[in-house]
Amino acid sequence: TDVARFIAEVPKCELHLHIEGTLEGELVFELARRNGIEMPYAHAEEMRRESPFHDLTSFLVGYYRNMQVLVTEQDFYDLATAYFTRAAAQNVRYAEIFFDPQAHTSRGVEFGTVVRGLRRAVVDARRTLDLHAELIMCFLRDFSAEYAMATLMESLPHRDWIIGVGLDSDERGNPPVKFEKVFARARAEGYLLTMHCDLDQPGTLDHIRQALDVIGVDRIDHGVNVLDDPTLLAEVVERGIGLTVCPISNGFVRGSAWEGATKRLLDAGVLVSVHSDDPAYFDGYVAECLARVHQETPLTIEEIATLARNAFETAWLPATLRARFL
Ligand code: ADE
Ligand code: ZN
Repeated sequence: TDVARFIAEVPKCELHLHIEGTLEGELVFELARRNGIEMPYAHAEEMRRESPFHDLTSFLVGYYRNMQVLVTEQDFYDLATAYFTRAAAQNVRYAEIFFDPQAHTSRGVEFGTVVRGLRRAVVDARRTLDLHAELIMCFLRDFSAEYAMATLMESLPHRDWIIGVGLDSDERGNPPVKFEKVFARARAEGYLLTMHCDLDQPGTLDHIRQALDVIGVDRIDHGVNVLDDPTLLAEVVERGIGLTVCPISNGFVRGSAWEGATKRLLDAGVLVSVHSDDPAYFDGYVAECLARVHQETPLTIEEIATLARNAFETAWLPATLRARFL
């Protein structure tokens, strides 16, 4: 159809993608073999079958388990290069990708190993795939603020290669204010700021409020719950805060609760864009995510173009690239 062709061809921008969430089962097994790591499963298909998940917490169990096969700089390079290759094939031209340094440093992999591998993949993607990528370091919110601060300090020698900081992992009981000092310091060091606000229970609106007023985020990952609060919704519109929403992972975790949410945000005038979160787990890269939104609530070509353009608007583009994409 015209819509399918438009989705395939429109230049795309990925802003909400955990690079560890692109670790496909086949690569898990290849890296396990390379690093001499014993897997509790015989092959990728069995692993997938035996690791069902139904919410964020159960998803995170498999997510953190599988990434233990990432050990060497080359492993991180191969992970990111596999993603960039897939993304370029979907006409993704710009990507700001999350990585979780503490998911690696906490098991003995050095910060520098992670960043050097990812950085080399970024350099090669710019050269060979016409895909410009940047790195966003996320703190794991279920670890302490002290550990986040230490990670922030550890990042400083690599600052030229990290565009901003985010906050992910288990949100329950881990509000934005827990990291107020860390984010203030990150801002002072020149990083741009984003964080996940996606709690499936009362309290989510408090987290969005804290992210806006206490942390002073530049954008919010998910944040769909603003639809429940007209005041907050109006403020997000007024302040031009971008929301990076993930229709497939949201649907997975919440069933149909947020079906049609993207269209409602668009209609409300929110700077909303559509992204893939953890595509190896939720089965869909950015093109499939746009298709999912269209499947939930039919969109016009113009609305899909707006979603694609909103992503570039929300992105932290350097001036030269802004001129190229907008
Ligand atoms: N880390 C990786 N994927 C995540 C998600 N969907 N939510 C929170 N933390 C994550
Ligand atoms: Zn996410």
